[in-house]
Amino acid sequence: MSTAIRPHLSKIVLAPMEGVIDAAMRARLTKLGGYSRCVTEFIRVSDVLLPKRVFMRLCPELAEGGLTASGVPVYVQLLGSNPEALAINAQRAAALGARGVDLNFGCPAKTVNKSMGGSVLLQEPDRVAAIVAGVRDAMPADIPLTVKIRIGYHDDQLLEQIVAGIWSAGASELAIHARTKFDGYKPPAYWATVQDVVHDRARQLYINGEIWTVADSYKAIQQSGCEHLMLGRGALAAPDLANRIANDAVDQPPMAWELLVGEIEEQFLQHDCNSPRHIGNRTKQWLAYLKRHYPEALQLFARLRTLRDVQSIASQFTAHRQQDLSI
Ligand SMILES: Cc1cc2nc3c(=O)[nH]c(=O)nc-3n(C[C@H](O)[C@H](O)[C@H](O)COP(=O)(O)O)c2cc1C
Repeated sequence: MSTAIRPHLSKIVLAPMEGVIDAAMRARLTKLGGYSRCVTEFIRVSDVLLPKRVFMRLCPELAEGGLTASGVPVYVQLLGSNPEALAINAQRAAALGARGVDLNFGCPAKTVNKSMGGSVLLQEPDRVAAIVAGVRDAMPADIPLTVKIRIGYHDDQLLEQIVAGIWSAGASELAIHARTKFDGYKPPAYWATVQDVVHDRARQLYINGEIWTVADSYKAIQQSGCEHLMLGRGALAAPDLANRIANDAVDQPPMAWELLVGEIEEQFLQHDCNSPRHIGNRTKQWLAYLKRHYPEALQLFARLRTLRDVQSIASQFTAHRQQDLSI
């Protein structure tokens, strides 16, 4: 028996992950329970008002009241540095029915940072605050504006200033990925660093980064002082992680592979078969995350690795069940 004690009743947000957590994956993961919100992959905003179809492509849930099929709200994430352009696009997201808008100041990608979007802005706390204020002022008052940051660009020296600016600009909640841009995605995540900027805002703060298990979620909350959690890769590696955290199931192992393999097969057949040049790519990507907790994911991955057509991939799910799992 573990002696870990659950620190507080947390809300859990499914992290935005470009090229990985799309609407189909949001639907599948939120169906397994535990999430109070999702965030879309980022919509890149340069200087123009984007057409409706861009919003609908990245957030098809807008056609369903801004909710996943299991009723979990989806916020639309925008990435950019032009406050006016971000403001008009946030207005459009709200007009299309977004449940909330999220601003991305965490993306480390070179191409994004070169055009002054994402984490590069963390070097300029005043600019971050001005962007948040501009977007907040432009949006309807009843639509929440949330923000996502890292603890800094080179280091965490500006974190206090960045966070203070975000609050004074009127953001309602803030998710902090507890690594700098230069840390990339390398472990560890520096949860304790966030403690210095919590002050009396714990209820508006989400700690993010390197949360793979229920026990990790407790540590992240205890060390950061944030009340809530955001799960990214951990949600893909153990698809019922949020549900186990929400149910305080610290000693419960991840859901059985025999059940999960049905979800993966369905995901493949429904959402990963249509684009001829990319058949099976998302399925292989998901299996790469699942390897962390499930040795069987490696077996299935090995079976699919070189296959590119629907029929042969589908038949390998059957072979995996019969030959690797004997079911
Ligand atoms: C492939 C990939 C795509 C990502 N895309 C986004 C994105 O579109 N917007 C964003 O704010 N963060 C994005 N992130 C960062 C994640 O939301 C999250 O902050 C990060 O993975 C750390 O959390 P984790 O350790 O739980 O995965 C991405 C991360 C990965 C690995």
